[in-house]
Amino acid sequence: MFEKYPKDQKYTLAILQDLQKEYNYIPKEKLIELSLYLDLPLSKLYSMATFYKALSLTPKGKYIIKVCDGTACHIRSSNVLLDEINNILGIKPGETTDDGMFSLETVNCLGACALAPVMVINDKYYGKLTSSMVRDILKEYGGDVNE
Ligand code: FES
Repeated sequence: MFEKYPKDQKYTLAILQDLQKEYNYIPKEKLIELSLYLDLPLSKLYSMATFYKALSLTPKGKYIIKVCDGTACHIRSSNVLLDEINNILGIKPGETTDDGMFSLETVNCLGACALAPVMVINDKYYGKLTSSMVRDILKEYGGDVNE
């Protein structure tokens, strides 16, 4: 897929971003292919893939849940939201459900402090959250909610 780019190292990041978009993470085989294509050491590609937050070397879920743990959200109990998500989906920040549906991350501030505590699922914002709201929202996404 990266053959559309000239064999020039200046396209490395653009290609990595394309791979991320296509697979939702960067598979190891693709990294090896890219290293041969651009004639770049694999270690350099690894360090780029780990440096940029938007890139991931591990598979991510179809839905990425970002719970804000910035100051405003933290004092409004963002940890309760994280606990509830863990109860429902069985994942902690940095983990993905076994069925590949959900990944959970924490972020520092989503720029919506007035709505604290806040979480985002893919691009959709949810604010002034309580545990029961989290439960209802995850249900909408097909989260396996234990009644
Ligand atoms: S601290 Fe959570 S949105 Fe700003």
